Amino acid sequence: MNTQQQKYPLSMMIFHSLIAILMIAAIVVAWNIGESNETRNLHKSLGVAVLLVAALRLVNRLRFVKAVPESVNPKGSVQRILEKSVHGMLYLTMLGIPVVGWMMSNAFGYPASFFGLFNLPTLLDKNPELGRTLKELHELGANVFIGLLVLHLAGGILHFIKHKQNVFKRMMP
Ligand code: HEM
Ligand code: HEM
Repeated sequence: MNTQQQKYPLSMMIFHSLIAILMIAAIVVAWNIGESNETRNLHKSLGVAVLLVAALRLVNRLRFVKAVPESVNPKGSVQRILEKSVHGMLYLTMLGIPVVGWMMSNAFGYPASFFGLFNLPTLLDKNPELGRTLKELHELGANVFIGLLVLHLAGGILHFIKHKQNVFKRMMP
């Protein structure tokens, strides 16, 4: 089988779609928070879900270190380095953004609640000044994530244009 036809394990495909849906939903909801506590709580719950699913995704990824399909980009090529760097930074954002959001909520004096079912442990004492700094970091993280997602999708699309290979199928059942 040529590299392009190899597929990711099903569990990785499921985690990949779930994270994509949850993170995009978290951002769309965040843009609509305004003054609404309900919308803010929905955003926080989606964000906590991202964190929990991302932790499981990372554990699952480590199970497949030796079994993920080979990159379609040749070893040592610029494309391969870009591809792997973007993937690594996407992992950082899917864990880092929600952790900063969690810390920000604590610093403003609120828990990181998951749909009112449970709260994540409190990491920080109330400190609104620190909260404002964490809020800026949280926003910056979200903007970096959007940039990475554009690069991630552009990589697949450019690969298709240049090599007439649909790499998207590798991540789809
Ligand atoms: C992947 C997960 C997450 C993403 C992509 C994300 C993204 C965002 C974005 C884009 C904003 C709007 C920033 C702005 O323009 O003001 C925001 C605000 C916020 N996020 Fe998150 N977030 C995530 C997870 C979390 C988590 C886990 C929490 C807390 C438990 C959280 C708490 C908040 C709070 C409190 C705000 C400020 C709302 C306000 O304006 O008062 N976020 N987030
Ligand atoms: C929403 C649209 C998205 C599409 C269409 C998409 C598509 C893909 C495809 C086709 C691959 C396999 C690349 C290959 O051929 O090797 C892949 C891998 C990957 N994607 Fe996405 N992706 C999307 C969103 C995301 C998001 C939101 C994240 C993370 C926050 C993400 C993180 C990753 C990572 C880390 C890999 C590498 C697989 C691994 O080693 O874990 N993707 N994506």
